[in-house]
Amino acid sequence: MTDHPEVHPELPRDKELVLRVIPMPADTNSNGDIFGGWVMAQVDLAGSVLPGRLTQGRMATVAVNEFIFKQPVRVGDLLSFYAEITRVGRTSMTVQVEVYAEGIRTQGRYLKVTEARLTYVAIDEQGRPRPVHPAQPA
Ligand SMILES: CC(C)(COP(=O)(O)OP(=O)(O)OC[C@H]1O[C@@H](n2cnc3c(N)ncnc32)[C@H](O)[C@@H]1OP(=O)(O)O)[C@@H](O)C(=O)NCCC(=O)NCCS
Repeated sequence: MTDHPEVHPELPRDKELVLRVIPMPADTNSNGDIFGGWVMAQVDLAGSVLPGRLTQGRMATVAVNEFIFKQPVRVGDLLSFYAEITRVGRTSMTVQVEVYAEGIRTQGRYLKVTEARLTYVAIDEQGRPRPVHPAQPA
């Protein structure tokens, strides 16, 4: 495992830690690994944190532009979700999310398990797109 290309000796410094969570047995699939849909839900939540700071109001996920399950996630792994806003449009924001797993027996080594790119849209009370920056015309 030490030579694995996705094992990193430290966590990213160029992205922000937005969520940490430990998956439990209830989150597994029939292989005994963590269910991909559970990981996707956590990534969607993690990805929304930085856009939420910009929009300071309602928003919705409009697209999961890319989602790569690089490695299986195990019960009891400490998962760290790192995010970075890579694009701010008029009403939308694109976020890159990386997920690292630290096993209970492999502490201090971080396996990149998932990478994703998602787009969020700021919405008004009627659910219509609104400018990310309120100063912009609607
Ligand atoms: C999000 C929603 C309000 C957008 O409405 P819309 O009429 O499609 O809006 P627009 O076509 O004007 O696009 C709005 C922004 O999203 C972007 N966008 C739309 N589809 C996109 C896609 N597939 N990928 C990336 N960006 C996309 C547009 O480029 C635009 O960005 P900009 O203003 O920064 O240029 C609407 O699609 C919606 O309500 N979707 C359901 C959201 C939801 O329920 N999410 C939870 C998942 S179950």
